[in-house]
Amino acid sequence: LNNLVQTSFKLIVSRNSSFQMEAKNRGKAAAAKAAVDNHVKTSQVVGIGSGSTIVFAVQRIAERVKEEGLSVICIPTSFQARQLIQENGLTLGSLDRNPKIDVAIDGADEVDKDLNCIKGGGACQTQEKIVASNAKEFYIIADICKQSKELGTTWKQGIPIEVIPSAYRPVQLTLEEKLGGQANLRMAVKKAGPVVTDNGNFVIDWQFQSLPQDWNQINQQIVLIPGLLF
Ligand code: 5RP
Repeated sequence: LNNLVQTSFKLIVSRNSSFQMEAKNRGKAAAAKAAVDNHVKTSQVVGIGSGSTIVFAVQRIAERVKEEGLSVICIPTSFQARQLIQENGLTLGSLDRNPKIDVAIDGADEVDKDLNCIKGGGACQTQEKIVASNAKEFYIIADICKQSKELGTTWKQGIPIEVIPSAYRPVQLTLEEKLGGQANLRMAVKKAGPVVTDNGNFVIDWQFQSLPQDWNQINQQIVLIPGLLF
């Protein structure tokens, strides 16, 4: 799993065949409910991912708090996750106070048949990876549209890579020289400037030209480029 997170996880997918927004949301809600009901227990420290699917998981945790007195500490992976936790009246923890996480739940942009996974569509991947890699159990929740045979089939924007602002240009060039394809600096809406992550960094979306045979090998090559957080 790359931005591509490197930790094992279980994928919980709802097989809803309709691609209508309503059906998509039902799929997200069903996957979120399955993850929360089956894997979150009282007194646990729970990692909360980012994006639209995780909203359903946080809402379900909040329901269980009200209905059955579930008590958990939630560790956010982004500003959005932090807001969600607070808006839903849940207990907000932090990695320095609660470095050992029992279970982490997050969404994904695309998941292939071998459970390689693209994350970072919302530019939160670094904190998501830190939380996921410190969790005993990690569950990815997704509606059926996220599942594909090969990465790049449904998520066309490329592999998100967080980069230190001063290094973005050399990193772009190195990625293209080493791995081919195109490394695009992610721009904000209306191209007002680069997207800035919660960590104050930029994001490069690397679009591969031909499908890599071995994602682990690609991952190893990418992590060795100075200036990026991967
Ligand atoms: C944010 C992420 C999200 O988990 C991913 O983009 C999925 O989002 P959504 O649930 O809205 O489809 O990696 O960086």
